[in-house]
Amino acid sequence: MHVAMIGAGYVGLVSGACFADFGHEVCCVDKDPAKIEALNRGEIPIFEPGLADLVAKNVREGRLTFTTDLSQAVRSAEAVFIAVGTPSRRGDGHADLSYVYQAARDIAAAIDGYTVVVTKSTVPVGTGDEVERIIRDARPDADFAVVSNPEFLREGAAIADFKRPDRIVIGTDDERALSVMNDIYRPLYLNQSPVLAMSRRTAELTKYAANAFLATKITFINEIADLCEHVGANVQDVARGIGLDNRIGSKFLHAGPGYGGSCFPKDTLALIKTAQDYEAPIRLVETVAAVNSQRKRAMGRKVIAACGGSVRGKTVAVLGLTFKPNTDDMRDAPSLDVITALQDAGARVKAYDPEGMEAARGMLTDVAYAKDAYDCARDADALVLVTEWDLFRALDLRRLKAALASPVVVDLRNVYRPDEMRRHGFTYVSIGRP
Ligand SMILES: NC(=O)c1ccc[n+]([C@@H]2O[C@H](COP(=O)([O-])OP(=O)(O)OC[C@H]3O[C@@H](n4cnc5c(N)ncnc54)[C@H](O)[C@@H]3O)[C@@H](O)[C@H]2O)c1
Repeated sequence: MHVAMIGAGYVGLVSGACFADFGHEVCCVDKDPAKIEALNRGEIPIFEPGLADLVAKNVREGRLTFTTDLSQAVRSAEAVFIAVGTPSRRGDGHADLSYVYQAARDIAAAIDGYTVVVTKSTVPVGTGDEVERIIRDARPDADFAVVSNPEFLREGAAIADFKRPDRIVIGTDDERALSVMNDIYRPLYLNQSPVLAMSRRTAELTKYAANAFLATKITFINEIADLCEHVGANVQDVARGIGLDNRIGSKFLHAGPGYGGSCFPKDTLALIKTAQDYEAPIRLVETVAAVNSQRKRAMGRKVIAACGGSVRGKTVAVLGLTFKPNTDDMRDAPSLDVITALQDAGARVKAYDPEGMEAARGMLTDVAYAKDAYDCARDADALVLVTEWDLFRALDLRRLKAALASPVVVDLRNVYRPDEMRRHGFTYVSIGRP
């Protein structure tokens, strides 16, 4: 199969490299020449475990190429995947579909022979209809089908998720397109990943429903954690106590500073907007989004309280900036809200993150970046653990205490044990635990 992947970001690059690894010939297209030049030099513009090796192997074996020339890639492709960004539109929270529609116009101009155009970007219900209309208007002669194939990979575990997905969702009523999609994903039948064929609109909604449900689960346990703090209960025991019930499941029941990242915040907002437009508002998700966005800033207040009610003139060390470990993605990371809240209250902030500092520099001001966790902690009046990188899971507690000016630790990921931290002489605050 010849595949064109439009957009070489987190999803496009991982999907493109994995499809190439299945044996397809993949050309990844991006409009950002710096990204394509870097890829052609053998540099990977994002941090994703295992991706550099996978890309290098498939480039070496001649199945994976990179270009800015969309029409050349599309002309020879049997399937063209759209994997461009769909960020929140400024002002109203709707998904900004301008990149998707631009890609559709560019694809229309280049289509040659029967082509399956696949939306892999997360897009609101009805976007596939509009993509089809755009291509049909521009090229009444073209032979094509538009399919929805939402992506469920998680950053940080993206390759494993792509190669061993819980399911593959394919939205189309076109038998010929379905057969092309089945050919593309055939290598995964060996792994027995279920392929769910459904209508295009249903597939589009399925992606949003999945993310909204996961965001709800996280927000639920976060609110239970808050209640635990008031009643003297332990949220980790509650999470285990409910999670072992198969109807509930134990994943996504870790209380923390609120969800962030490039998907949940924007996708919950976009679903809310779609539902309102169709006069079928999903009030549960509206509440989840509101609770979560307040929570992130509330974490700043939690740190201030741990510091005795004021951080004015104090230095706070922040460990972990990315929205989760094993990625360099800073989009909507809780650290941004926590740090801004601390700065607004007069604190100086030092920070360390293994992969996120470069992106953070462009998103935060007046932050001093450290070279490791202990350098970050040095002379600080409090330390906040925001992202649970493995590197922060087994810190030398004696060394940490010696580095801090005042032994206050706020652990927003419940990585450490309260009794152990207190034994080491820390004033230790975590989430939903006595
Ligand atoms: N990041 C994730 O974990 C994840 C998971 C599942 C689904 N998604 C969805 O996948 C989509 C892409 O997300 P991402 O995180 O990979 O975004 P990203 O911002 O990392 O990458 C998008 C890329 O598309 C390029 N691009 C934009 N318009 C283009 C055009 N017309 N032609 C060529 N290139 C173009 C951009 O330059 C950029 O490199 C989004 O809809 C997102 O919601 C993301």
